[in-house]
Amino acid sequence: MSGHGDPVPMISHKAQALQGVANVPGDKSISHRSLILGAMAVGETRVSGLLEGQDVLDTAKAMRAFGAEVTRHGDGEWSIHGVGVGGFAEPDQVIDCGNSGTGVRLIMGAMATCPISVTFTGDASLNGRPMARVTDPLALFGAVSVGRAGGRLPMTVVGAASPVPVRYVVPVPSAQVKSAVLLAGLNAPGQTVVIEKEATRDHTERMLAGFGAEISTEVTDEGRVITLTGQPELKPLTIVVPRDPSSAAFPVCAALIVPGSDVLVPNIGLNPTRAGLFTTLREMGADLTYENLREEGGEPVADLRAKFSPDMKGIAVPPDRAASMIDEYPILSVVAANAQGPTEMRGVKELRVKESDRIDAMAVGLRANGIAVEDGPDWWIVHGRGPGSVPGGATCASHLDHRIAMSFLCLGMAAEQSVSVDDGGPIATSFPIFETLMSDLGARIVRVAG
Ligand code: S3P
Repeated sequence: MSGHGDPVPMISHKAQALQGVANVPGDKSISHRSLILGAMAVGETRVSGLLEGQDVLDTAKAMRAFGAEVTRHGDGEWSIHGVGVGGFAEPDQVIDCGNSGTGVRLIMGAMATCPISVTFTGDASLNGRPMARVTDPLALFGAVSVGRAGGRLPMTVVGAASPVPVRYVVPVPSAQVKSAVLLAGLNAPGQTVVIEKEATRDHTERMLAGFGAEISTEVTDEGRVITLTGQPELKPLTIVVPRDPSSAAFPVCAALIVPGSDVLVPNIGLNPTRAGLFTTLREMGADLTYENLREEGGEPVADLRAKFSPDMKGIAVPPDRAASMIDEYPILSVVAANAQGPTEMRGVKELRVKESDRIDAMAVGLRANGIAVEDGPDWWIVHGRGPGSVPGGATCASHLDHRIAMSFLCLGMAAEQSVSVDDGGPIATSFPIFETLMSDLGARIVRVAG
């Protein structure tokens, strides 16, 4: 089983006003998909702005193991010579997806309709996460999987030699599940139909269309009905990866809570299936503006400007917005702690099965830092104390979860006492330049001896 090395304890002291420009890395979701679809196309796909975080590097390594030629040419500049739909070779080693649920679930989908056997593993966090949500629909194509109890990794998936197309209603709001089924449907004859009741991020659908697949989405009473025609020849693409709104969330939210801050975060993808946090922050009274709103590569993009916002108030976040900000609840809870009154977050059961149980991880850490939090199976309420009045002073467990680590470090920037995390190592999975970027803005994050 993979690990991620020794813990890297970090402390975040009260920051000076955060000022300047924050150039966050490329979008993680789009980066994984660029590599996987590039590996399934015939010819050379070129990618710029690829996120070079560990999660994506693990997916690049996996694509090489399946026979694609994946080359790094320079900072974020990559090319992939694909093997074509159905052309994956059987890897001769276990595929280690590290910390990445997106990586393993999408790759399982992509190989499930190829006649090969693949064994997957990951780190302690990934090996604790449920995989049945993906292997159940993949079984409908004819794939067979055997894992540990509870559908956990390590797991071997035997791809279907004669796959059949599938009609599948996704039972949980999950872009990973939807994408796994679509990627499997690529090598099944006929039409694969995926229905989602709630809209989740649609990067797979957009990118499949870009690679030349026949795919359509219809909004019906049943939900979003996505129809994909199998066995296309995917044509290589030139992809410019937009910057990640989920990473932008950290400098944006830190600027909102640190007095005197004014931070510009350029070129952020604002795909409506991803931008729920920014809408929520504005409803709370955040001074957050979209500058230079434009369209790039079929995705809406803007420069975000965030300024210290002392008048933010807690709100009830609409549950139907959850999918569009699912990765942002941890950092939202940090803003909520610095707003006036309660922020209610409901319909968020999925937070319990992310890289960690994110409701529990944040609730425990916020309480230790003097913030009242109530929580139930699919909801939590953070009782804000107002700007600058978070006591702080505690050490929080990051549970191998990059977003938990970054959220608590942001909490420390505006708290009365410094806030520590037991392990900031996982930050490298999605935002390897987080410490430098935040320090350049004025944060005071220090690594401490373990
Ligand atoms: C992702 C989907 C989401 C999200 C994850 C990235 C994707 O997971 O939390 O960080 O790229 O498809 P779920 O599909 O489990 O909601």
